[in-house]
Amino acid sequence: MLQRPRRNRKSEVIRQMVQETHVSAANLIFPLFIVDGENQKTAVSSMPGIFRYSVDNLLREVESCMNLGLKAFDLFPNIDDALKDQYATESHREGSLYLRAISQVKKEFPEACVVTDVAMDPYSSDGHDGVVQNGEILNDETLEILGKMALAHARAGADIIAPSDMMDGRVGYIRKVLDENGYTGVSIMSYSAKYASAFYGPFRDALNSAPKFGDKKSYQMNPANQREALIEARLDEIEGADFLMVKPALPYLDVIKLLKDSTELPIAAYNVSGEYAMIKAAVQNGWLNEQRATTEVLTSIRRAGATSILTYHAKEVLLNKWL
Ligand code: PBG
Repeated sequence: MLQRPRRNRKSEVIRQMVQETHVSAANLIFPLFIVDGENQKTAVSSMPGIFRYSVDNLLREVESCMNLGLKAFDLFPNIDDALKDQYATESHREGSLYLRAISQVKKEFPEACVVTDVAMDPYSSDGHDGVVQNGEILNDETLEILGKMALAHARAGADIIAPSDMMDGRVGYIRKVLDENGYTGVSIMSYSAKYASAFYGPFRDALNSAPKFGDKKSYQMNPANQREALIEARLDEIEGADFLMVKPALPYLDVIKLLKDSTELPIAAYNVSGEYAMIKAAVQNGWLNEQRATTEVLTSIRRAGATSILTYHAKEVLLNKWL
């Protein structure tokens, strides 16, 4: 035998020498849930270890992450039902919880990178990512609202705008609104290939944002499709996206790889709430080793081609020095 691949696995030093993929704090984006009020920190029951923070506590949480070298955050608001309406007006109202959170974080931590979520669902009385009329999701009417939301986020200090709605043409529309208002430096991380997935369940618990009727299949992608992701990715790139995202991550590693090979833009992957919940549930039952399972998942997502990973594991892997 001339070739004995095991030689390159014979010691820890050699294994590390030939290791092809690494995960570091710089690759991670930590999603954080926000709730109104003061001194609030409420547990999300389907996501052990994850909380909804009022803005004062959010600042403390951001600070403790910054101290660990975790400097990128994606914010999501839990909105009181009374503030929701058909047109998600709360999403761009001056002085809203979300806009206050963005500007406070940027004020206290100018060097933090704040990613903001552009989509109607947390603010929509229908729980959908678009305007609903007679049970239909209207595309072009939704763009106008997304544009207002993105502009409000930019004004509040967002570094990266992340449209997660899957309406057609929204990246180009948002890019135009931002540019026309002088925000040429604000980036867009587009949820390019976002699938109609069962794995968003715990997130919808966290935000109380589940659709009030039907499902999201007329805008989010069919999990069976890969080639369609190329269409979405190409359009987002042409429309001016700075990052392309695949979501969820683990069941779609092939899509991450496909996009990686077909664009020069950095690829982000969203390791979603249900993926997090599965690991936590198994760990709580004593069925998986938490450190090994978590680092294996993150490494796999990087190996598939993701530059950045949005993950609820971001803080714990640094706190526990698992990377
Ligand atoms: C909605 C949105 C969702 C997530 C991020 N933005 C859920 C959905 O589309 O219903 C899911 C994130 C997760 O599950 O962690 N705009």
